[in-house]
Amino acid sequence: MERNRTGTVNFYKDFIKETAKNFLMGNAAFQKWRAKRPRAGAYYTGKDEELERYAFLGLNLLRKHVGDIKGKSICEIGAGDYLTSGLSMLAAGATRYAVIDRFPGDYTGSIAKEWYRVISDNWAKTYPEIDWAEDIKAEDFPENYGERLELIKQPIETAKTKSKFDIVCSFQVGEHISDIDAFAEMNKRLMVETGGVALHRIDFGPHDSWFWYKDPLTFLRFSDKVWNLTGSNRGVPNRFRHHQFMDAFERAGFTVEIVYSADFVEQTIDFPRLHPKFQAMPHESMLVGTAIYLLRLK
Ligand SMILES: C[S@@+](CC[C@H](N)C(=O)[O-])C[C@H]1O[C@@H](n2cnc3c(N)ncnc32)[C@H](O)[C@@H]1O
Repeated sequence: MERNRTGTVNFYKDFIKETAKNFLMGNAAFQKWRAKRPRAGAYYTGKDEELERYAFLGLNLLRKHVGDIKGKSICEIGAGDYLTSGLSMLAAGATRYAVIDRFPGDYTGSIAKEWYRVISDNWAKTYPEIDWAEDIKAEDFPENYGERLELIKQPIETAKTKSKFDIVCSFQVGEHISDIDAFAEMNKRLMVETGGVALHRIDFGPHDSWFWYKDPLTFLRFSDKVWNLTGSNRGVPNRFRHHQFMDAFERAGFTVEIVYSADFVEQTIDFPRLHPKFQAMPHESMLVGTAIYLLRLK
């Protein structure tokens, strides 16, 4: 037993819990039911931080690291439960928005609709400098925007579209992709050749039960085989580390700028307890907790 910020955690119990969740997700009926439920508990309860996290994060990161998105076409990988970032990007003047998601959420259900209304209601106060685009309304989103919206319900490894985009982006997705070379290559397939960019924010930290442990890398103590028991049917972290993404992006022909990174607190990590595979990796890479990568074709 270990004590942490929420009380007691139990390594073996948590392992069994995560393995059981994975087993259930192997059942098609359960998977369908699960897809209708919010994954991140992301209901809007009136707090500004919920808006920032679930509605405006993607737009804000694009504006900060890529620039004005007005007139740009955008493809987002793994938008999550609702098309909140898509609506924000279109409202800020993007011409087209596409989403590629292996487990798409309920984009037209009542919770989604509530989010779209909230985005519209809070727009002027959040972005006094950006006029809401005249040609889009929250009330009939997403149904009435078929020409400007492309929904590709497939994993990036196999997703196909004829369209090309000025901006390819993802937020908290790279850590869930099983094939990071396919993830890197996909940017090349989707991006316009001249002036195209990609922005990917990757969270290298613990998810699910492992989030509550004092050592943020507790989930790297398992071998791949054992880890797979907790996640073969669902999107648990792939456990690829920062240097492996850098290598994959470079192999795919990109120059990579790390526009943001934040490290774990080194003293909280029990390095000798990591699986040997991770102990052998570059120390600096193991410390990276979050990174945002800006890719341009070489
Ligand atoms: C942790 S969620 C992040 C959602 C949202 N971007 C956010 O920041 O809240 C990861 C998303 O990536 C999607 N995803 C995971 N693996 C994928 C894959 N191989 N291809 C496409 N989408 C994938 C999931 O379905 C999910 O919507």
